[in-house]
Amino acid sequence: MSNPEFFARPSHAPPAPERLSDFARAVLEGLCAPAKRLPCKFFYDARGSVLFDEICALPEYYPTRTEIALFRDHAPEMARTMGREIALIEFGAGALTKVELLLDALERPRAYVPIDISGDYLRAMAAKLEKARPGLNVLPLVADFTKPLALPQCLSEARRVGFFPGSTIGNMDGAEALAFLRKAAAVLKGGGMLIGVDLVKDPRVLHAAYNDAAGVTAAFNKNLLVRANRELDAGFDLDAFAHYAFYNPHEQRIEMHLMSLKDQHVRVLGRGFYFVQGETVHTENSYKYTVEGFRRLARQAGFAPRQVWSDAQGLFSLHWLEC
Ligand code: AVI
Repeated sequence: MSNPEFFARPSHAPPAPERLSDFARAVLEGLCAPAKRLPCKFFYDARGSVLFDEICALPEYYPTRTEIALFRDHAPEMARTMGREIALIEFGAGALTKVELLLDALERPRAYVPIDISGDYLRAMAAKLEKARPGLNVLPLVADFTKPLALPQCLSEARRVGFFPGSTIGNMDGAEALAFLRKAAAVLKGGGMLIGVDLVKDPRVLHAAYNDAAGVTAAFNKNLLVRANRELDAGFDLDAFAHYAFYNPHEQRIEMHLMSLKDQHVRVLGRGFYFVQGETVHTENSYKYTVEGFRRLARQAGFAPRQVWSDAQGLFSLHWLEC
């Protein structure tokens, strides 16, 4: 095996740390860690977002269609529970399908505030929605919703209701999920939140959902390497890494990794990184909850968990939490 110290040394002057992008910093830091990792938020460049939309339509990926069916079947009841004349605040500007089903059922919503870190995507989405619903007050907010939030002043009077579908909370670890829920409970005080949560189930169903036959999830995972090659002048050979996803029952989570298929070294921003055959880069966790387990977490964060809507097979759940 080659000397890792040699590979950790820059072959020519790398960019000064303060000039590095968030992605560059995360990659350099993640590949230096004893167990290599890359944060999953970097999946979502333009290509990654398209691939994620494709995942949502895959026959094996049950969460999206199951959650949409729950909205179709129960939106009027959900809307009654959320109340009239609310300000609806969506954490992460997702596909419009889900929020549209809710908006159809809500009584005179005062405003819809989609929050997303990607300004271009958010503006495009807000424009589309305003065109489709001329009477709706759409107030897009470009922000990282995991950080402290400053909501528009005009919302101070309205009852605030959070909307966080898709089980995105599953991509946070326990401490992150608790911190996010605590912050949400503070911002939404006096209102509540409707949140989608994927459930613990037969591991074979979970395994198939993250190892689809068409290889879309594999392409989504490897897109991180494509992105590093493009943005960080990296030299990842895409055929020398494999998509590796499995259910970890002790942690109640799907883990996604990129596995090195041989001993190899790869240059990123002028630095060298060594991978032994079989070594992995951990790219994503997707935690699954039991209904009771999630209600416990919500209580710990200061919410009072109320109604739960779930499908007959117990695949996915939507929780109404008051605060
Ligand atoms: C966005 N998130 C909830 C998805 C999930 O299922 O954890 C991301 C994803 N990763 C692979 N497939 C889908």
